[in-house]
Amino acid sequence: MTGFSADWLRQREPFDLAARHQTLALQFREALTPRPPQSALRILDLASGSGANFRALAPVLQTDQEWLMVDHDPLLLAAQRTEIARWAAQHGWHCQDQEGALSIHVGTARWLVRGQQLDLARDLESIDLASCDGLVTTAFLDLVSAAWLDRLSALLMRTHRPLLATLTVDGRRTWSPGRPADYLVADAFLSHQGSDKGFGPSLGARATPHLAAGLAKVGYQVSTQTSDWTIGQEHREMLLTMAREAAGVAIEAEPTNAPAVSAWLAEKLADIQQGLLSLNVGHLDLLAVPAV
Ligand SMILES: C[S@@+](CC[C@H](N)C(=O)[O-])C[C@H]1O[C@@H](n2cnc3c(N)ncnc32)[C@H](O)[C@@H]1O
Repeated sequence: MTGFSADWLRQREPFDLAARHQTLALQFREALTPRPPQSALRILDLASGSGANFRALAPVLQTDQEWLMVDHDPLLLAAQRTEIARWAAQHGWHCQDQEGALSIHVGTARWLVRGQQLDLARDLESIDLASCDGLVTTAFLDLVSAAWLDRLSALLMRTHRPLLATLTVDGRRTWSPGRPADYLVADAFLSHQGSDKGFGPSLGARATPHLAAGLAKVGYQVSTQTSDWTIGQEHREMLLTMAREAAGVAIEAEPTNAPAVSAWLAEKLADIQQGLLSLNVGHLDLLAVPAV
């Protein structure tokens, strides 16, 4: 387990939503071909967590849709149903259980969402990608290894399906105002990103360029765009979470740095308290469309 909590995914969702590159999402929509024609679009979401990708993209795709949401964490798959039902209710859309899937009625369109528990490290190739029209994933690819991304490219080469992979970290992280010890925490953070999250050594910030090169090699047209989080001074809770997480990771990576990192955290908490601090976190969105 990589241990992502539903609370954390809920906290990051509005920042993800604001950061997503809308043009790439629209181009992904254009690249989708329902099979057979006129039928619902079938979308596969890898590492779907509590369903943020569906909530962001279903309104962009608009038409009838059938989503298969794959994750290995049963708690997040359970949270997914709750979060999607709550989201539908907030919009005044009718949502009901239909043989284990959630069926949401939005105007004349119907969105059907089904969760599936699967370990993507082990069982990626068991996915029937050919029975889907497009593949999406968000906030996931920085966890995986080069070898796993090569497996994903091979799967896409065989099936010729468009991919939209959003919000992969790219290593940029800028605190304002900057402090001298920012570099210490940033270095530790980057080395932590390279640890094994169950897929072999993670590529972290190098994931998007690696996948882009791999897919270009097998005949895909690939575009990438930045999708940065801008966490302004008014978002104190998010800043607190980010500063505490960065400090925790830095100490775990290098315990001898604990005194310096604790002093760094105290400075950041004081800056947040005074409404001075903001943070930019760099991400990349990637769209890959088969050339033919
Ligand atoms: C940062 S979260 C992103 C979740 C969701 N896409 C979102 O944006 O809210 C990473 C997701 O990867 C999933 N994950 C990690 N390792 C996995 C594995 N081996 N198989 C399937 N899912 C995995 C986690 O359970 C978690 O839902």
